[in-house]
Amino acid sequence: MKKDLITTLDKHLYRQAFDRAATSYDEAAVLQKEVGKRLLERLDYVRLQPQCILDLGSGTGLCTAALRQRYKKAHIISLDIAPAMLLTAKNKLSWLEKTLSGKQRYICGDADYLPLKDQSVDMIISNLTLQWCPELDHTFTELHRVLKPDGLLMFTTLGPDTLKELRQSWQSVDKNIHVHNFIDMHDVGDALLRARFADPVMDMETITMTYQDARTLMQDLKTLGAHNASPSRPRGLTGKRRLQSMLTEYERFRVNDVLPATYEVVYGHAWTTHVKGDRQHSPQREQQVPFHPRMQ
Ligand SMILES: C[S@@+](CC[C@H](N)C(=O)[O-])C[C@H]1O[C@@H](n2cnc3c(N)ncnc32)[C@H](O)[C@@H]1O
Repeated sequence: MKKDLITTLDKHLYRQAFDRAATSYDEAAVLQKEVGKRLLERLDYVRLQPQCILDLGSGTGLCTAALRQRYKKAHIISLDIAPAMLLTAKNKLSWLEKTLSGKQRYICGDADYLPLKDQSVDMIISNLTLQWCPELDHTFTELHRVLKPDGLLMFTTLGPDTLKELRQSWQSVDKNIHVHNFIDMHDVGDALLRARFADPVMDMETITMTYQDARTLMQDLKTLGAHNASPSRPRGLTGKRRLQSMLTEYERFRVNDVLPATYEVVYGHAWTTHVKGDRQHSPQREQQVPFHPRMQ
């Protein structure tokens, strides 16, 4: 993994940003809803009947709700670092769901230090959260710890081309980090193997959102809580002149009267085995295409 590119993030800062965004998140989460839907559709091909599911970085509960529908008998744990996100998710439960919510738990916690027992979860689903965990070796080891043998980790995250237009526009203005650097899909796959996950499968797709202007894109990111949490971020307010220069630079990308914002969406899944020296294949698993390490 390119350590020079992947910085650590200020968790305290982004947690506050997600807390502030908790009540507005859903209205701006167009991409997150679509990607979450596509992620969960992949479960159609998995013959696992989980008793306990962890929705990691559950946010306002978009995926949790769909998981509840899909696995009616399962215990679901919604875990998020931002307490206000969990509260918003909880408040969305209908009266009936609240009455039946014995199978639903909300935990405020950090993906890197899960307050869960070893081998206690059958499946971890995580939609667009792992890009906030740049120490992936550490995170995946923790996820591996809480998964039972033959447990499944299925996730989406963001790849390096994400917000490339915004990143390039800022780069023409100054040398500060305004947009995070995201981890390459192949490095994510390598990190899964290092954390002793078996049979990782990785793929990606590019989704382009369009905006009337770059200010609206920046406002959307704010509404989502997607704050710049890089330690090298510029401190203080961005000067009006520099902001205007960036907006002018972004105009170079205008096509058909709209501005594109690229998202490289990375999909991954992998299994736990916990069987010494044996990559045990469970009959419950789907037909798999193995992950191929990076071609040089
Ligand atoms: C982009 S939102 C995605 C939320 C939800 N999965 C969805 O599909 O709408 C990312 C979420 O991850 C949470 N998050 C970020 N870093 C985390 C960490 N280290 N541990 C737990 N949750 C984290 C944030 O608080 C936020 O709610």
